[in-house]
Amino acid sequence: MKAYADRTLAELLEELKQVQARYDALKGMGMSLNMARGKPGTEQLDLNRPMMDILKSDSDYTCDGIDVRNYGNLEGLPACQRLFAEILGVKPENIFVGGSASLTLMYDVISKCYTHGRGLGCEPWCRLEKVRWLCPAPGYDRHFSISESFGMEMVTIPMTPQGPDMDLVEELIRDPSVKGMWCVPKYSNPDGIVYSDETVRRIAAMKPAAPDFLLMWDNAYCVHEFASEYRPFPDILSACAENGNADMVFEFASTSKITFPGAGVSCFACSENNMARMKKLLNVQMISYNKVNQLLHVRYLKDKEGVLALMRRHAEILGPKFKCVLESLEKEIAPVGIATWEKPVGGYFVSVNTMPGIAMATWQLCKDAGLTLTKAGATYPYGKDPKDSNMRIAPSLPPVEQLEKAMEIYCVSMKLAALRKLTAV
Ligand SMILES: Cc1ncc(COP(=O)(O)O)c(C=O)c1O
Repeated sequence: MKAYADRTLAELLEELKQVQARYDALKGMGMSLNMARGKPGTEQLDLNRPMMDILKSDSDYTCDGIDVRNYGNLEGLPACQRLFAEILGVKPENIFVGGSASLTLMYDVISKCYTHGRGLGCEPWCRLEKVRWLCPAPGYDRHFSISESFGMEMVTIPMTPQGPDMDLVEELIRDPSVKGMWCVPKYSNPDGIVYSDETVRRIAAMKPAAPDFLLMWDNAYCVHEFASEYRPFPDILSACAENGNADMVFEFASTSKITFPGAGVSCFACSENNMARMKKLLNVQMISYNKVNQLLHVRYLKDKEGVLALMRRHAEILGPKFKCVLESLEKEIAPVGIATWEKPVGGYFVSVNTMPGIAMATWQLCKDAGLTLTKAGATYPYGKDPKDSNMRIAPSLPPVEQLEKAMEIYCVSMKLAALRKLTAV
């Protein structure tokens, strides 16, 4: 089969006719599926049903000498701090356990910078004329939404196979109005890239002009391999501390894609100074988070090995879904040469880069055929992909049979969008 780029106009017009007919037939199937977000499938959620049967008698609610049903321990149940500490390779006293969403903790950390400042003798950011923020992209749309909601000026940093373009980062942090950076260091959303050791080393050793620079290290997929053995990762807190940057970083994680998204447990890890400041500020808005849920997680997951064993069961369910996506792209799209894509072994997404100028049209065609994908553009700051090319596929929710149909709709929609563009004269 010839790539579209090598075909004559007549050949493309003939192909357009056939692909249009195929699209019309697929549209007639009446698909109704929303794959916009990385939601675990029902089978994955069912894995964790036993967690809900753990706390039965009154005495089950005591742990570390604490009755978890009562107020107290703002920083979290010590056993839950120990669990996250083991996963992230930090000390338990560096862990603050929050509610069900790490996103809330990220929002809170940034919000406090605006209202109260980072400490360190710096002004609250709300008093500054401009706050600029480094956004590796493609990236996680909700990170960008937080930045946008505070009125930050987002600066796009291209992703490389090793992580964010560090030459550019090192140049930009010389500007004191650059106050921070988003990072998803392991199985980045959406590319599935793992930052190289060299990238992590350069990030930890940054010397930003802003003394209150904030590194938002979102380790959302730190144990989320689906086609590989568990891959250990560096402890960013120690790496920063060794470079005199102990207070620069907050690391985040959660059990959203280990147990239940929306009903799991989240945490941040940070230096002693940052912990003292955040506890003081959070203490005003919260007496204590849900320690009953923290205890359920501790009793159910037990320790890091318990978490990794559970993740291997998730992988058995997720692996075939990612395989289905990659095989569809290989079969339908590779021969016509209209997109490239990453082949991740962990995380929750497949990142596809179409030929320039057709991502939004592809998204719309899918939508019209009953398939809702993450909106094209969402993986870039302000929802604007300059090349109109990047698309995020989230294969986890539908069963494989439905995913196969969804991928057929996706691939045919992309071909149709490409052919319409290539034949528009
Ligand atoms: C990179 C990243 N961070 C955070 C989250 C959300 O985490 P939580 O459920 O803990 O708020 C997601 C969910 O898709 C994500 O992809």
